[in-house]
Amino acid sequence: MAVLDRDVSGAEAVGVHAVKADVRDDAAVRAAVADAVAVLGGLDILVNNAGIGATGTVEDNDDEQWRLVFDVNVLGMARTSRAALPHLRTAAARRGQAVIVNTCSIAATAGLPQRALYSATKGAVLSLTLAMAADHIREGIRVNCVAPGTVDTPWVARLLDAAPDPAAERAALAARQPLGRLVTADEVAETIAHRASPLASATTGTVLAVDGGMAGLRLRPPNQPG
Ligand SMILES: NC(=O)c1ccc[n+]([C@@H]2O[C@H](COP(=O)([O-])OP(=O)(O)OC[C@H]3O[C@@H](n4cnc5c(N)ncnc54)[C@H](O)[C@@H]3O)[C@@H](O)[C@H]2O)c1
Repeated sequence: MAVLDRDVSGAEAVGVHAVKADVRDDAAVRAAVADAVAVLGGLDILVNNAGIGATGTVEDNDDEQWRLVFDVNVLGMARTSRAALPHLRTAAARRGQAVIVNTCSIAATAGLPQRALYSATKGAVLSLTLAMAADHIREGIRVNCVAPGTVDTPWVARLLDAAPDPAAERAALAARQPLGRLVTADEVAETIAHRASPLASATTGTVLAVDGGMAGLRLRPPNQPG
């Protein structure tokens, strides 16, 4: 396994090959993918997970912020995918299939307050996933995305740290999900691993929620059962 990230400081601890690259830099992404292929001996699974957030309504982010978040969240996936596709084709020809899994978000399909720019990028990720799935199905390459709810990652930790009352903010985020807690990073990773595995060999062009029931469920308040 190899990880491409602009910050590879945590990679050694988990024993994966790490390549430092910024997904906004096409040449760096191509070099990183070539490096990973050389070390791994090929590439049969690509997970496009790098992403950044943005808060505010449509009035709050300037053009530079819009370009930045689209550059990372959408163009970053395009750059990494087009660098990886020749190698995925080779793997698909040898093994019968190769896979791309993109990290989308519940923000692609649910209106969340103060997330206009971020949601727009994740809507684009969902559309890109469907278009890529159609383009590459006959090459034996499946393309799916996962749509997490609020996940307990360093990103959310940073958001909580910046909140006036981090404990209250955390409780509000947990309460927004019918499961009553944040999703864990491992739960998202396992969902991605399932989509990438032969267990999902007939699944392409889909979005799988890993959101504690947030997208689909409508519960009554806890004190009003039934
Ligand atoms: N945490 C959540 O609640 C949540 C919910 C839905 C979707 N997501 C999505 O999950 C993915 C991971 O988010 P996270 O919560 O783990 O965030 P995080 O900030 O904890 O991790 C993001 C990772 O992406 C890397 N990265 C950021 N910009 C990069 C760039 N330009 N080039 C290379 N690497 C870059 C960072 O170094 C970091 O390792 C993102 O696509 C995010 O949109 C997160």
